[in-house]
Amino acid sequence: MKKLLFTVIFGTALVLGACGGGGSDEGSSGGSSDGGETTDTASADQIFQNNCASCHGSDLSGGMGPDLTKIGSEYSADEIADIIQNGKGQMPAQKQVSKEDRQTVAQWLAKKK
Ligand code: HEC
Repeated sequence: MKKLLFTVIFGTALVLGACGGGGSDEGSSGGSSDGGETTDTASADQIFQNNCASCHGSDLSGGMGPDLTKIGSEYSADEIADIIQNGKGQMPAQKQVSKEDRQTVAQWLAKKK
């Protein structure tokens, strides 16, 4: 039970956190948790460092892959998640990234404008 509850709270925190940056409409939900307010950002950055930085640069400025510092103005989170899942052009599909991590890092990148 406890584990399930934690998963639910953590999942909610991720979703809220991911949407919270740019004035979301769903800010007023009850049962807010204090667990890991910034965890989403930290872990998105970690996911990026682990899976993407080798090609896109640890500061997103590009390398072998293109600059992603303004990627949010070109692609939505869904489109970025799709690129991670399926690859694009010279970029191989990043199959090692879990669905959850894909969403996390895609939403994080979609805010880079
Ligand atoms: C093996 C090197 C490599 C890795 C690892 C990699 N990418 Fe890429 N990525 C590329 C290359 C090369 C392109 C350019 C693809 C093209 O358009 O031909 C690209 C393109 C992209 C684009 C589209 C950029 C644009 O302007 O069209 C996004 C978004 C992206 N990558 C995100 C990611 C994310 C997020 C990760 C980690 C989960 C990742 N990439 C990991 C090499 C990589």
